[in-house]
Amino acid sequence: MRILFVISELYPLVKTGGLADVGASLPKALKELDQDVRVLLPAYPSVKSRCPNLKPVAELRLMDRPATLLEAVVPDTDIPLWLVDAPHWFERPGNPYLGPDGSPWPDNAERFGALCWAGFHLALNQVGLNWQPHIVHCNDWQTGLVPALLALETNRPATLFTIHNLAYQGIFPAQTFTRLKLPKALWHVEGLEFHGQLSFIKGGLMYADKISTVSPTYAKEIQTPSFGCGLEGVLKARSQHLAGVLNGIDTDKWNPATDPWIAQTYDLKALSGKQTNKQALAEHLNLPLRAESPLLAFIGRLVAQKGIDLILQALPYLIRYPFQFVFLGSGERDFEQGLLYWARRYPGQVAVHLGYDEALAHLVEAGADLFLMPSRFEPCGLNQMYSQRYGTVPIVHRTGGLADTVVDATPDRLANRAATGVSFEHPSVGALLEAVKRAWLLYSQPSLWHSLQQTGMLRDFSWRRSAAEYCWLYQQALAERKAGPTLSS
Ligand code: ADP
Ligand code: GLC
Repeated sequence: MRILFVISELYPLVKTGGLADVGASLPKALKELDQDVRVLLPAYPSVKSRCPNLKPVAELRLMDRPATLLEAVVPDTDIPLWLVDAPHWFERPGNPYLGPDGSPWPDNAERFGALCWAGFHLALNQVGLNWQPHIVHCNDWQTGLVPALLALETNRPATLFTIHNLAYQGIFPAQTFTRLKLPKALWHVEGLEFHGQLSFIKGGLMYADKISTVSPTYAKEIQTPSFGCGLEGVLKARSQHLAGVLNGIDTDKWNPATDPWIAQTYDLKALSGKQTNKQALAEHLNLPLRAESPLLAFIGRLVAQKGIDLILQALPYLIRYPFQFVFLGSGERDFEQGLLYWARRYPGQVAVHLGYDEALAHLVEAGADLFLMPSRFEPCGLNQMYSQRYGTVPIVHRTGGLADTVVDATPDRLANRAATGVSFEHPSVGALLEAVKRAWLLYSQPSLWHSLQQTGMLRDFSWRRSAAEYCWLYQQALAERKAGPTLSS
């Protein structure tokens, strides 16, 4: 099948979170299944500077402004990568969505509208590249207009829209609709209108032939008011077309046996290597290591989604135990300040690294004993899978992808060697504290602990199975294309 994969981030060219990891590794896994996959991405400065041999292959007009389509390859693959080069929209340093003051760029609707229009023209083979996809696979709100625009066309590819995070929807004032040159037929409540505003994500949810999200549990959760972010009705109405496909991880990049970024490589049979990494991590962060103390780590965006507020509220209690903590993240100022306060007050127990550091993230996974991920909601989450692969036992709130990837250490599951972590039901400080204490008890019993680590390390989180599930969804999208949502005019 010919697949056009449209996305707004791709590791290592541009990354703010797990979306970029998926952008790099899913196309690679599809290629390994012999699919003809090609990726479309905006030409941000970091992307252009990291892609050698850029070749202009087409001139486009997007919303009456000129743009060039550049061709490169996805790093470390031979997958064609097309870049929408429109300096007036994309030639801005730093975060792809936010300006230097941390607020969204005021013209984000135009910027990602341009990405969508480029995807639309490519999908219909209108740019002179002599390549028409069978499937356009769109990811998150930044690409949501593509299925909507295509739905008005005959002879179009089938569309799949993947929700990586429903909390980000791309909502803009109604006037934006005209500025983006969108056809009037798309402006109604069963279309792009959301409470009188323009919603990018609704384009994907209303018009894509198939919708998917990144774990089976999140697919169910988003059909309820607690997780649906106001879109639960829409999702419930389309539940026949909604699937949950668990993300995989790049098992080459995240492999403790070969990882170039850790102090000592190790595997299942030589787990003592973790101790060297623990030492190196502590030294790197100036944390005086206490031999008997379990080291608890957190990596992630410092936002409420990740339950960092729960951790901060639990710290006054946790600090009384012989635990040590490492935090790597960046995000909201209050959370950053909160963590710095604990690091200043307890320098012997808490180390904080604010900022984004890919190499350090690998060392943290290798050096920590336990990984904290009490997310309030988590569409999939990747770090709990990286943790298991690195023999670092995750403590998670049982939601979304965390529920689907971590097997709680109940006595039965421990006895059957099925357990891989500790999970808790309600996102509360009390439940988190209980879970940490439960994990500590396991940590103090070396044979149980090793069994937990080993079961986690043996799990297969590779993309193979999920990529095959996507191929199956593509087939279904093609078969159901004509039976898609009816269009009001
Ligand atoms: P989300 O996409 O919601 O942020 P995921 O768990 O899917 O959450 O993916 C987060 C990705 O970003 C992981 O690869 C994680 O290692 C990485 N990451 C997050 N924060 C940092 C950071 N401060 N430094 C390095 N890597 C980070
Ligand atoms: C989003 C989600 C995260 C998921 C990632 C990749 O950023 O918050 O849970 O793992 O996308 O799909």
